[in-house]
Amino acid sequence: MEKFTAYNPVTLHFGKDVLNEFGNTLLQYGKKILLVYGQGSIKKTGLYDKVGNYLKEINATVIEYEGIKPNPIIQDVDVAAELGRKHKVDVILAVGGGSVIDSAKIISITIPVQHSGWDFYTGKAKPLKAVPLITILTLAATGTEMNPFAVLSNHETMVKDGYGNKLLYPAHSFLDPQLTMTVPKSHTAYGIADLIAHCLEAWFGNGDSSLGDRFIVSIIREAMDYGPQLLGDLCNYELREKIMYAATMALNGLTLQGKSSGDWGVHSVGHILSLLYDVPHGASLTIVYPAWMRLVKDRIPDRIAFLGSSLFDQQLSAAETIEKLEAFFRSIDCPVCLSGMDIPGVDKNAVYETMISNKVSGANIKLTSKDYLPLIDLFW
Ligand code: NZQ
Ligand code: ZN
Repeated sequence: MEKFTAYNPVTLHFGKDVLNEFGNTLLQYGKKILLVYGQGSIKKTGLYDKVGNYLKEINATVIEYEGIKPNPIIQDVDVAAELGRKHKVDVILAVGGGSVIDSAKIISITIPVQHSGWDFYTGKAKPLKAVPLITILTLAATGTEMNPFAVLSNHETMVKDGYGNKLLYPAHSFLDPQLTMTVPKSHTAYGIADLIAHCLEAWFGNGDSSLGDRFIVSIIREAMDYGPQLLGDLCNYELREKIMYAATMALNGLTLQGKSSGDWGVHSVGHILSLLYDVPHGASLTIVYPAWMRLVKDRIPDRIAFLGSSLFDQQLSAAETIEKLEAFFRSIDCPVCLSGMDIPGVDKNAVYETMISNKVSGANIKLTSKDYLPLIDLFW
């Protein structure tokens, strides 16, 4: 095992009707609230009105920032931070999926300063404080509700990247699986794929941890056993609950204990597809993971074969493992090649150039620019 530090200060409120505890929790941080949300799903589902009623009950003053996009962008973050700064908000309330919560995390460290939140990504600035953040999660996928990471895109410099800092942990996250019942089938499947991909990034990361491997296998098996059932029964509370819990555990630090890092090479390649073609995050990963595994199969055959044998309860080779994983992604209607996404104007050269400028690699199984074209060829 590698040496590691375990730290997670998020208070997680999980289960049916946990929002009942929400008003009093919020009051501990103040009454002037910056409410951040996405492009309208919370209005359609009625959650916006419900949250509004809780906020009325505690006589909160609410400043709203609406319109965070999937694959969120720095421009929204900077405008929202300016709003929060102007109104001297006490606390940020993020209601939505990963895109909304990630944006709110960077808003929370940008309000106290006078520059763009992107300066944290480039290393030009280090955050010294954050406005407290409370989240209400509506989509099970990213794990952002219980981790210190935020992923944003900058279309001016053509970068999609993750940033991590202890200040980005939410103070409280409220997870009521009932709120995920309206997530459409496609995004439910992308969420299942994303949580599996987070486990795989840990599996292929730096360092050995036999207990860590068992955590990873258990979480992936949970997703593979119950994910397909959920896709056939989208309003099943117990199945929503299992997938939501699995998604949080897949990226809250648990699977990385005993390792110095995950690999994250596949994520950084996936981000290129999202940046260029707005591919939903989970879908980008089901395209890249099988291709990446084929590319590195001969470099780490035993590690891939051990994954397959652990997941599928039979002795499998690396090649058979890749086939089985790809078949699983296909069975939940996730794309396993770029042609499956039907993207107009998709251009291999643009993918290659953007991989070069983003210096795509991986912390453990390092990709170099020589790997890019063979990898891209495997997307078709
Ligand atoms: O725009 P809104 O109204 O929020 O609608 C969203 C969006 O259209 C909708 N949605 C969310 N909850 C819903 C719902 N629709 C109906 N009912 C509900 N209850 O679903 C669509 C996708 O939402 P989004 O927030 O974009 O999805 P997700 O949670 O998958 O987040 C993806 C983002 O998170 C980043 C990804 O790169 C991507 O930008 N990631 C963040 C990570 C982290 N912070 O640790 C790690 C991940 O690997 C990932 O990179
Ligand atoms: Zn992910």
